[in-house]
Amino acid sequence: MCLRHALCITAVLLTTLNAAAARNAEEPAVGTANGLALTPPMGWNSYNKFACNIDEKIIRQEADAMVSSGMREAGYRYIVIDDCWQGARDRNGNIHPDPKRFASGVKALADYVHSRGLKFGIYSDAGEKTCGGRPGSRGYEYQDARQYAAWGVDYLKYDWCNTGTQDAQASYLTMSQALQASGRPILFSMCEWGNSKPWLWARNVGNLWRTTGDIYDAWEGINPNGYSIGMLNILDMQVGLAPFAGPGHWNDPDMLEVGNGGMTESEYKAHFSLWAMLAAPLISGNDLATMSEETKAILANQDVIAVDQDPLGTEADRVVKDGDYEVWARPIKGGGRAVVLLNRSTRPHDITVTWAELNYPDGLRAAVHDLWTHKDRTQAQGAFIASVEGHSVVMVTIKP
Ligand code: GLA
Repeated sequence: MCLRHALCITAVLLTTLNAAAARNAEEPAVGTANGLALTPPMGWNSYNKFACNIDEKIIRQEADAMVSSGMREAGYRYIVIDDCWQGARDRNGNIHPDPKRFASGVKALADYVHSRGLKFGIYSDAGEKTCGGRPGSRGYEYQDARQYAAWGVDYLKYDWCNTGTQDAQASYLTMSQALQASGRPILFSMCEWGNSKPWLWARNVGNLWRTTGDIYDAWEGINPNGYSIGMLNILDMQVGLAPFAGPGHWNDPDMLEVGNGGMTESEYKAHFSLWAMLAAPLISGNDLATMSEETKAILANQDVIAVDQDPLGTEADRVVKDGDYEVWARPIKGGGRAVVLLNRSTRPHDITVTWAELNYPDGLRAAVHDLWTHKDRTQAQGAFIASVEGHSVVMVTIKP
């Protein structure tokens, strides 16, 4: 008990400071107190399709197509310009866009995107130069964050090229705090490729963090370029990461390749289904202005999107691994499960998930709804079994 007033105040103050210090040690940043990404962000990014070959005309076209194709209606919001929009810094250190490719300036482009009812994202890098050799933000974090806020930026993807001996945690924390200090809510997408296991430390630093290197538009394998890897290679690297994701802070297995031509339609359905199971950001990476009806039908599948956007925000785990046959499952709001039966082989195969694997009692009866045919399958009890084509998935919800 506090007997003397002055001592009492000192004691209370010390206790408070100690508690704050303890909390700070655990939670280093003000970070994602931005209240954004309560469900995984959805949008479009220029890199997978256009790489460095971008200009303001393309970005405007994609924003228009996001609306006219029905993608905005389907839930996609962010138009994100990846690497290579930058020109040079002026003598005051202010970053300017490439004067030829983005002649109207970034503010005008952000205004255009906003006028379409969309949100606007941009890209930078924690090092001195971006992966494409443009100026990075190292040493200019606060100045750049202020500039992005003034332009009306809603989303920053922050890459990790040319960072030398920089510490990832410190570098991302600096930009996180700079964004916070800018006064504008800016979603912070960390692209550090999983090198320093950001899922262990970035919960209060960024809204999402890449868990791997770049995706390669292929079912499986390594790109001859040596650094990007196929869809299933990325999937395998997500095993065990589910506990680290949740509202406001997501694992990011990289952007979607749906519609870019390297996979079959059923492989792309599998890619999209699995990314939804992983509560991944759904960032389309194809040309929205010229996409086929088949591609649109995959990207706009409301049943699958609802799984990705489920308010519980619980990422799927692999609950069965039987050679080429796998089951991924996640709880969804209301006590149900979303389930993907994945056949990695080239031949059709029956794949089963038991209720025990879903943490259900055997006797439970449940309704099974197919998220690609949009039909109810027969009620199931104890297990659900389906024939799955080669290089393909069956995706269902199971609701008691
Ligand atoms: C890195 C990132 C990619 C993309 C490119 C741009 O490879 O991981 O997602 O941003 O840089 O140069």
